[in-house]
Amino acid sequence: MKYIPEPFKIKMVEPIRITTEQERREKIAQAHYNGFSLRAEDVYIDLQTDSGTGAMSDSQWAAMLRGDESYSGGRSYYQLLDNARDIFGYEWIQPVHQGRAAEKVLFPVLIEERGQFVISNTFFDTTRAHVALAGGHPIDCVCPEGLDSGLDAPFKGDMDLEALERHIDERGAENIAGIVMTITNNSVGGQPVSMANMKATAAIAKRHGLPVVIDAARFAENAFFIKEREAGYAEVSTRDITREFFSYADIFTMSAKKDAITNMGGLLGVREEGEHVPDVKSLVISGEGYVTYGGLSGRDLAALAVGLVEGLDEDYLRYRVGQVAYLAARLDEYGIPYQRPAGGHAVFVDAGRLLPHIPWHQYPGHALAVELYVEAGIRSCDIGSFLMDRDPETGEQQQAPLEFTRLAIPRRTYTQAHLDVIAEALGHIQARADQVKGYEIIWEPKVLRHFTAKLRPVD
Ligand code: F0G
Repeated sequence: MKYIPEPFKIKMVEPIRITTEQERREKIAQAHYNGFSLRAEDVYIDLQTDSGTGAMSDSQWAAMLRGDESYSGGRSYYQLLDNARDIFGYEWIQPVHQGRAAEKVLFPVLIEERGQFVISNTFFDTTRAHVALAGGHPIDCVCPEGLDSGLDAPFKGDMDLEALERHIDERGAENIAGIVMTITNNSVGGQPVSMANMKATAAIAKRHGLPVVIDAARFAENAFFIKEREAGYAEVSTRDITREFFSYADIFTMSAKKDAITNMGGLLGVREEGEHVPDVKSLVISGEGYVTYGGLSGRDLAALAVGLVEGLDEDYLRYRVGQVAYLAARLDEYGIPYQRPAGGHAVFVDAGRLLPHIPWHQYPGHALAVELYVEAGIRSCDIGSFLMDRDPETGEQQQAPLEFTRLAIPRRTYTQAHLDVIAEALGHIQARADQVKGYEIIWEPKVLRHFTAKLRPVD
């Protein structure tokens, strides 16, 4: 594979503890076989999420020292406003404490009547939850390629346009509150959405008078994939690609903990300051704080203003997407199956195929995550049937379309040597795959069970 330069050097290090296999066996048993209950200091390489876990640059840290902590109208807010308006071309930009806060203030305003549908290329869990909490019904509508993990296709995150039209015709446009485009499409493997698909989705929405919302957590990685893979964009900058992509939508929500490379923060943007903004502002003031800080410190706003610009740097993005592709290429050496091609922020190992003897209701994606921790102290997580909550009406367990173990790579945090450890650890597990056991839940809460459930291995 071609050498990809890392466009930074390390100025400060954080020591991590090396544990023994025996210690890890004890720790994971004490945590009831749930990685969320481990202490982070007992983890060697933490791939649980790429959210808020990246390394900020010296420019971001320097900006933090100059953060303006005024209650209203602070300088840091205006810096963020200038940078965000310039990148996205939206009139109104609202900082919030993280992505789900933007969802929490948007969906009650967007969903005018209970029972309305909201259609997405695939909702992220919190977005799905906020649609439901606001009285709406979320519908996933990803293209069929997205659900075939062995298939190599450039834009597996795309909306299924035919299915979208069908849902609108069958349910009636008046019963639909809006359309959400998640970039990249996290739940199907960090897969990108093409410009053509965004444009076509927006055209359908416009024909039916429906608003389009971008869930923009990984907007910069998506722009880089468009530059690399979509005809006509090789010579267009990721900034201009972003500007065009966002021009097709009306609103965006964003977790800034991903592509804006901050440890905390989020944004809500509205292209034309129209009817929804006063209602959203009231919800922000009552839940997050005054509109010019939205639940963040001035220093967080300052780091976010800088991170938005750094996150679009093409040398950085080439390294970022290249690092994930490097890990995937190492897994190819062992023949370990994953959602192909590798996504922007993570490799989604297809645990259903790696551990075919474990039935879906014994959670192969979770079993592999536990095994990876025991093997090498690597924390990852299930994106499969363990993650799915029970059917709220019948109480039955629900089967996910695919059983993934997600290896999410924090930004600018781990070196290539760390990635080699991950690949080797998976190689060892593959060699004894038939001995890996499934899991059963011994306690679970009513919703979002994977965060706190207690499990035990099945003998
Ligand atoms: N939308 C997407 C696509 C996300 O991936 C996330 C978070 C959110 C919204 C919510 O943002 O965490 O800032 O409130 N994803 C993280 C993950 C948690 O691990 O994939 P948040």
